[in-house]
Amino acid sequence: VALDASKLKITLAQTLKPLQPIETLRFGQTFSDHMVVATHDPEKGWSAPELKPYGPITLDPQCSCFQYGGNVFEGMKAYLGPDGKARLFRPDMNMRRLEKSCARLALPPIDGDAVLELIKRLVDVDKRWIPKESGYSLYIRPTVIGTRPGLGLTPSDHAMLYVIASPTGPYFAKPISLLAVSENVRAWPGGTGGHKVASNYSPGFLPQRTAVEKGYDQILWLFGDDRRVTEAGVMNFFVVVKRDDEDGVDLITAPLDGTILPGVTRASCLALASDPEFHQEISMRLHPQEMVYTMSDLAKWSSEGKLLEALAIGTVAIVGPCDRIGYEGKDIVIPGDGLGPILDIQEGRTEWKGWGVVCA
Ligand code: COI
Repeated sequence: VALDASKLKITLAQTLKPLQPIETLRFGQTFSDHMVVATHDPEKGWSAPELKPYGPITLDPQCSCFQYGGNVFEGMKAYLGPDGKARLFRPDMNMRRLEKSCARLALPPIDGDAVLELIKRLVDVDKRWIPKESGYSLYIRPTVIGTRPGLGLTPSDHAMLYVIASPTGPYFAKPISLLAVSENVRAWPGGTGGHKVASNYSPGFLPQRTAVEKGYDQILWLFGDDRRVTEAGVMNFFVVVKRDDEDGVDLITAPLDGTILPGVTRASCLALASDPEFHQEISMRLHPQEMVYTMSDLAKWSSEGKLLEALAIGTVAIVGPCDRIGYEGKDIVIPGDGLGPILDIQEGRTEWKGWGVVCA
């Protein structure tokens, strides 16, 4: 049986939690009143989903998710527009990626369209949790975990979907610094770096802590003997480089070769950068380039004065400017101050090609 959003059972919380002042919000620390849960077993397929008060879930300790990490998730946000409506930003892209992540880990297939219907219901029920201030939103974390009982090393034919929501604000208060790292890698050819699987994240915690100890905010992940530039922390990474022909600027990022997470904000920046209507909007010509480039390219662009901006891009941070990259004991310093237009679309001030999807 496929996941069926029309079978949703709703149990509302008896008492609602007090909202927290936005200046005290920390990423992923506060959760809304409700959550959505559905389970899959190989005989009955997906259960009727439930929307119920946020709270603990109970699982058998032998479940495969605890032992083999067969877990995937999505990150998306609901924004409150000037019209008072809640909007999700290009949620279809998250749902297709969720389907692919489940497939990559051989989890039971899930219908992303049904998940999206459930997310819209959750956002509607918990709408008071979306802060109205610009730069703030309700971060939504749809998660699928493998719950197969037993320690056998086979794909999990049992699963649980849950969706939780957390009010959130600007992630970086100021431009961030990056430490270029090649002794650890985030992803490799044939691995899972191109999917949003939970096990991509924890191996980065130790290198991240080391980078902070060395005085940097995040890691710039390199790959290969030629030190290709890939991603920044848990975000995609872009550089803005002046062109020799003086015809605007290049917006450069690594190609989706399986080691790069296909980010929604990444795809949106590339789409805007290739759109003449958008060039008119910002009175500037951008040339999107998905290409392999290395640390020595970056150092060369910097020394020639062509490196205008470096940007860490993701759902959480949106577009975070980077002002310094540590590499081989020296710092590459970058001017720049980030991009604003994408937030105008996300928060419904600019209507752009149906990217903002109203929830109710
Ligand atoms: C994002 O930058 O949006 C991410 O996906 C990071 C997330 C794991 C917190």
